[in-house]
Amino acid sequence: MERLLLLAIFTALQAVTWTSHAAEPPPAKELLIGFKATPNPSVSSFQPLLTDSSGNYSLGFLRVNRDQLSLSILHNPSFVPLWTASTTRLARWADPTQLLFNGSLVLSDSHTGVYWSTHTFGDRVWLSNTSNMLISKLGGVTNLWESFHFPTDTLVENQNFTSAMALVSSNGLYSMRLGSDFIGLYAKFANRVHEPGQVYLKHRALQAKADIIEGQPVQLVLMSDGYLGMFQNRSLPADVQSFNTFQQNASGIRRVRLEPDGNLKGYYWTGSSWILDYQIISDQCELPSSCGSYGLCNPGKGCSCLENRPVHGSGECAPPENQLAGDLCSGAYENRVKVLRRTGVELPFKELMGYTKVGSIEQCEGACEGNCTCWGVVYSNSSGYCYMLDYPIQTLRAVGDETKMGYFKVREGVGKKKVDTWLGLGLGLLFGAILVFGGIMGLGWYKLKNRGVKGYYVEEEGVVGVGPYKDLGTASFRSIELCEK
Ligand SMILES: *[C@@H]1O[C@H](CO)[C@@H](O)[C@H](O)[C@H]1NC(C)=O
Ligand SMILES: *[C@@H]1O[C@H](CO)[C@@H](O)[C@H](O)[C@H]1NC(C)=O
Ligand SMILES: *[C@@H]1O[C@H](CO)[C@@H](O)[C@H](O)[C@H]1NC(C)=O
Ligand SMILES: *[C@@H]1O[C@H](CO)[C@@H](O)[C@H](O)[C@H]1NC(C)=O
Ligand SMILES: *[C@@H]1O[C@H](CO)[C@@H](O)[C@H](O)[C@H]1NC(C)=O
Ligand SMILES: *[C@@H]1O[C@H](CO)[C@@H](O)[C@H](O)[C@H]1NC(C)=O
Ligand SMILES: *[C@@H]1O[C@H](CO)[C@@H](O)[C@H](O)[C@H]1NC(C)=O
Ligand SMILES: *[C@@H]1O[C@H](CO)[C@@H](O)[C@H](O)[C@H]1NC(C)=O
Repeated sequence: MERLLLLAIFTALQAVTWTSHAAEPPPAKELLIGFKATPNPSVSSFQPLLTDSSGNYSLGFLRVNRDQLSLSILHNPSFVPLWTASTTRLARWADPTQLLFNGSLVLSDSHTGVYWSTHTFGDRVWLSNTSNMLISKLGGVTNLWESFHFPTDTLVENQNFTSAMALVSSNGLYSMRLGSDFIGLYAKFANRVHEPGQVYLKHRALQAKADIIEGQPVQLVLMSDGYLGMFQNRSLPADVQSFNTFQQNASGIRRVRLEPDGNLKGYYWTGSSWILDYQIISDQCELPSSCGSYGLCNPGKGCSCLENRPVHGSGECAPPENQLAGDLCSGAYENRVKVLRRTGVELPFKELMGYTKVGSIEQCEGACEGNCTCWGVVYSNSSGYCYMLDYPIQTLRAVGDETKMGYFKVREGVGKKKVDTWLGLGLGLLFGAILVFGGIMGLGWYKLKNRGVKGYYVEEEGVVGVGPYKDLGTASFRSIELCEK
């Protein structure tokens, strides 16, 4: 996860031009047993170690976060990474890190040990002119290992994608997998959600040209003709998703990538730049989190927040405590949770979510209210469908229909470092005032109680707002405590 987040950072570096590395020998066309390489401190972005016969692709050390590296295959003219060795941690761009070939290609560090290895007994490593890295025996016809079998977030032309593989977006949030007759896109918004996460897109094969035979494996292949095909028999596709350049005389190479926003996009190389050729989700509001946590996507109008304005000073729609972390059951934030209600909202992928049918919004909310793994519900008053969300609230879709409504829990920020000084001071004064007020009222209540008048001040409870939500209408907003420690 951490690695993938970091990967997101270096993909942003793609525009960085290739630095000269006069001191480096030219990259090899193959690596033989005994090969060793260490990162060169004077290289600022990419240190190629191996290239293919066309010179279009290179394997090398790609600098990440200034002082770390990933082992990646790049498209040389554009600097776009097509593949990255999957390590749980990033190696340092420093001397103890080395890449060696002893039959296995091994990335290791004398202090930390092995980061990544192909676990093979090969004789040579080479790159095909389609960017596939291969390990084979000398004189052998079959390959012992290929990078095409371990895709990262990208598929290139004619690379076979099977149900045993997954594409994972560089931030680690989204994945693409193949089902028996469909392509599934999944989001992992909370650690709690089981693999592969919440499905947000399911594209079923149309089976217009070929039927899918149950029980037989399917493959997804990016075809040079300009379409993403689902196959069981390579001669006839069971499904065709055509690109803008479908069947045009396009000579450039193609790739598809699962993007950090959860969309699957296809690109075509014109010889000088990549042109966007295809998007599996064309409506921005259908993306799983197009406006971020607690965001509201208005078709054609862009983003706003579920609550009418962003959190003070951050531009985000909810305090950082609500973003992609766990549930409301732990005591880490003292479980201070507020409720936000909004009408005219709908889940972007509700037809893929489980629901229960209930008679009223109150029943729907009730199922969520005391349940600390539930972050909110979305209810349709016309159908009675109640959708429970077991991950931090993401972006909802704005709809004109006011009978579609949502109830959302918001974890309040009590992470002290995150509260800026003035807000902290303000809160301090507010709490001070509340304490004094409470003290006086308590005394008053005590006196009243002693006179036999009970419950006089009960209405005052829950009115005490904290932080940025304090001046929201108190009728639709109240503090609740969940899952006490
Ligand atoms: C890169 O590949 C293209 C085909 O996609 C080829 O025409 C071109 O010559 C290659 N570039 C180099 C430097 O070999
Ligand atoms: C290659 O090197 C790795 C790491 O040092 C080691 O674990 C592995 O056993 C070696 N393989 C062979 C065939 O020597
Ligand atoms: C890639 O290599 C194959 C043979 O392995 C060759 O037929 C093809 O023309 C090459 N393509 C490019 C772009 O060099
Ligand atoms: C993909 O699979 C087909 C058979 O289904 C095979 O003929 C082809 O060589 C494979 N392509 C690659 C790049 O492995
Ligand atoms: C694939 O389809 C072709 C044409 O319909 C057929 O001749 C061939 O036998 C099929 N192959 C398999 C493995 O089903
Ligand atoms: C593609 O190119 C070939 C030859 O270069 C030509 O005969 C054919 O008409 C072209 N097709 C289209 C759709 O442009
Ligand atoms: C709590 O909510 C989760 C979904 O977030 C649901 O799966 C579970 O059944 C609920 N538990 C109870 C006791 O209602
Ligand atoms: C929900 O539906 C019920 C009847 O089905 C109706 O009485 C009620 O007014 C509706 N509430 C809203 C907010 O539309």
